[in-house]
Amino acid sequence: MTIRSRPIGSTGLVVPELGMGAASIGNLYRPVDDEHARATLAAGLAAGLRYVDTAPHYGRGLSERRVGDALRQQPDVVLSTKVGRLMDPDPAITDDAERDGFRSPMPFRMRYDYSADGIFRSVEHSLQRLGLATIDLLYVHDIGRYTHGDANDGYWQQLTAGGGFRALERLRDEGAIRGFGLGVNEIDVCLDAMGEARLDAILLAGRYTLLEQDALDALLPRCAAAGTSIVIGGPYNSGILATGTRAGGTLHYDYGPAPAEVVEKVRAIEVLAERHGVTLAAAALQFVLAHSQVASVIPGIGSPARVAQTVALYDEAISPGFWADLREGHLIRPDAPVPGDAR
Ligand SMILES: NC(=O)c1ccc[n+]([C@@H]2O[C@H](COP(=O)([O-])OP(=O)(O)OC[C@H]3O[C@@H](n4cnc5c(N)ncnc54)[C@H](OP(=O)(O)O)[C@@H]3O)[C@@H](O)[C@H]2O)c1
Repeated sequence: MTIRSRPIGSTGLVVPELGMGAASIGNLYRPVDDEHARATLAAGLAAGLRYVDTAPHYGRGLSERRVGDALRQQPDVVLSTKVGRLMDPDPAITDDAERDGFRSPMPFRMRYDYSADGIFRSVEHSLQRLGLATIDLLYVHDIGRYTHGDANDGYWQQLTAGGGFRALERLRDEGAIRGFGLGVNEIDVCLDAMGEARLDAILLAGRYTLLEQDALDALLPRCAAAGTSIVIGGPYNSGILATGTRAGGTLHYDYGPAPAEVVEKVRAIEVLAERHGVTLAAAALQFVLAHSQVASVIPGIGSPARVAQTVALYDEAISPGFWADLREGHLIRPDAPVPGDAR
């Protein structure tokens, strides 16, 4: 089975439509041992998921260390990591209790820094942790009110007047990276950032999915005009679009328990999917790829079994009737492209 590829803006980079999000192997919510992480990354690369997204934040350096080990001497893999958080050594951290969502033993404390100096330092630190000579794409991680609330004004200043975007442009101009953009869970900050710098790609998590398509209003048309690619993170909105509503335990949406109206909408999609013999998670993955600005979708991949399952979902045959019924039932926006539409 071949995974098709698409370009990232005008960077010259080409990524597979299906990539790997490496938050899980940074011990997101649960510890993962080195061998399990190694096997997961190896299975993903062997299956053709040769675009990997990581971040300093993912296990406070742990995910970058593991990703770097897996990618060394692997040709033709596109790697993105992020800037905006520095890891300060903290000898008081001696266990893997959950901190900021990660069960990592790495003895560092996270500090936000979106200034030029913070960005240059972050890139140097990432290269050392990865043990790699280059990084392809850098995303400004979690800038915006979704993460920072009112404190965002200060961080935005660091990124703009404080030279953060200029630092990224310098790295791109000098060829140290191939491109940059944002890695965020919100739309507004993407539009603001596009007024400040030429973005090659935006990693948009959870905001263009089978459940929500507000990005069609302003962001996706603006990306089309600017030649900015979209990488879809969180395609299952943290889980509910993969598990469906009948899974036991808590249903996850946007890093927390799913609200009733979300459960109700997913249930309606699920009923339709069952009627057409479609796997809900397959619909979630394939739906976002129907948009011409989307270059790749990167679900969280936390085990070798998940790799095989995800490739099968990407490859599942879905009848045009399912997409037509989704539209007709007002379960997606009428202007949302679906697989089979002319791209
Ligand atoms: N600000 C940012 O830049 C940002 C934000 C969010 C995400 N991202 C990127 O996007 C990647 C993916 O996001 P995500 O992990 O938050 O969200 P996600 O892919 O929407 O959902 C992950 C959840 O879905 C579950 N899952 C995945 N495949 C499944 C399947 N086939 N059946 C049942 N459950 C399944 C996973 O369970 P298991 O853990 O059991 O596999 C996990 O709980 C991240 O790794 C990261 O690279 C970036």
